[in-house]
Amino acid sequence: MKKAFVKSYGCQMNVYDASRMVDLLGREGFVETGTVEEADVVVLNTCHIREKAAEKVYSELGRLRVLKGERAEAGQDTTVVVAGCVAQAEGREILNRAPGVDVVVGPQSYHRLPQLLAASKAGRVVDTEFPVEDKFDHLPARRTPGVSAFLTVQEGCDKFCAFCVVPYTRGAEVSRAVDKIVAEAERLAAAGARELTLIGQNVNAFHGPGPDGRDWTLGELLRRVAAIPGVLRLRYTTSHPRDMDEALIAAHRDLPALMPYLHLPVQSGSDRILAAMNRKHDADTYRRLIDRVRTARPDIALSSDFIVGFPGETDADHAETMRLIADIGFASAFSFKYSPRPGTPAAESEDAVPEAVKSERLAELQALLERQRQDFNHATVGRTVPVLLEKPGRHPGQVAGKSPYLQAVQIDGDVAAIGTVVPVRITRAGSNSLFGEAIGEAAAAATAAA
Ligand code: SAH
Ligand code: SF4
Ligand code: F3S
Repeated sequence: MKKAFVKSYGCQMNVYDASRMVDLLGREGFVETGTVEEADVVVLNTCHIREKAAEKVYSELGRLRVLKGERAEAGQDTTVVVAGCVAQAEGREILNRAPGVDVVVGPQSYHRLPQLLAASKAGRVVDTEFPVEDKFDHLPARRTPGVSAFLTVQEGCDKFCAFCVVPYTRGAEVSRAVDKIVAEAERLAAAGARELTLIGQNVNAFHGPGPDGRDWTLGELLRRVAAIPGVLRLRYTTSHPRDMDEALIAAHRDLPALMPYLHLPVQSGSDRILAAMNRKHDADTYRRLIDRVRTARPDIALSSDFIVGFPGETDADHAETMRLIADIGFASAFSFKYSPRPGTPAAESEDAVPEAVKSERLAELQALLERQRQDFNHATVGRTVPVLLEKPGRHPGQVAGKSPYLQAVQIDGDVAAIGTVVPVRITRAGSNSLFGEAIGEAAAAATAAA
């Protein structure tokens, strides 16, 4: 049996793509392995978003080269594939920098992986085209999606924020057709998925052709997918503030399946920096938008991305970001030091913020965000929340799942309950998970089965 090791870096879209590559390799007779030493094919699904992420790939490729040599001595071939956004951004250059690499394939052409693997027997190959055919039409159905599954509905980005490589690595914004998304969602639900997260680099810019010949919005798509039997929960990510339209906000008010959680990156609280970033919105527009979302769904948990140390950012700009965070209150967040990326407009700027200042600002910002996260989690203690049970817990006799607010929750219970939503009274907040007990009938079922 041939074995494939697939490792993903970066965003959820890469996780989704990696799972599709595993299915594709499965059709070619490969089984997935978690042990790289025994893999005949190794795929690194890479991320180019920050320098650190991209450089990690090269150190990994260095290790793989050694491993490949060892396996060759034992008479075993190893094919090394670099997929994802570094592949798209650097293409053939990867072959020069990393001698062990056999295949370089971009995010829009990985459906050709079987042909590329075959071609690599004769020599190293690179495919970073944006092909005319739809890669989704060439991918096999997913067999074991798990209780919570990602589903790509939109790809690429036309926003061109001054710091970001995504418009270059993923290409122009494209939405999939509603029928195809619905068919994939139905297959996922039939295979046991209970929660679907619709993903896209700019998911709320979705405008896929609907069955009625009109382009549908994300709000309309969510309504349609919520009607699929077996789909208990819906989420979507990642959104841009400019594309939060009325229909989407209304979906948060009207759709019980749509979870009260919104990841809405703002990046900065300073209007000057937001303008320099080419975000095309200011801080007050973001505040007002959040007010509207909270009016539609008062308990919504908010999440965001922040960049500190964008070129030209002053202490006063940073203070504006801190004020925005304090005003809004986030349940969770991701924050990064600005990293200049080749080919992006901001990388040309000459007023770089010193590394030490970036570090200070990041520490201050993360301390506030962490306090808000802990406060949010502690506020859940004593409440009863519906938890979708997703997998066995850390210890035998425990099951792990998620609250509507995307908090990890551990309960005592039987793994037979995985895939169901049970009411859980939260008793304690740890640093990364909540702990609680199933109540009512769910508790009885859990004990009876245990
Ligand atoms: N499409 C999403 C996010 C894309 S990348 C959006 O529009 O928000 C994920 C996050 O990485 C971004 O939100 C941003 O906070 C961060 N990021 C992107 N480019 C970066 C860079 N050059 N340096 C530091 N962080 C960056
Ligand atoms: Fe990057 Fe901006 Fe597009 Fe998000 S909206 S993917 S940050 S260019
Ligand atoms: Fe990284 Fe590409 Fe995603 S650069 S964040 S893997 S779109």
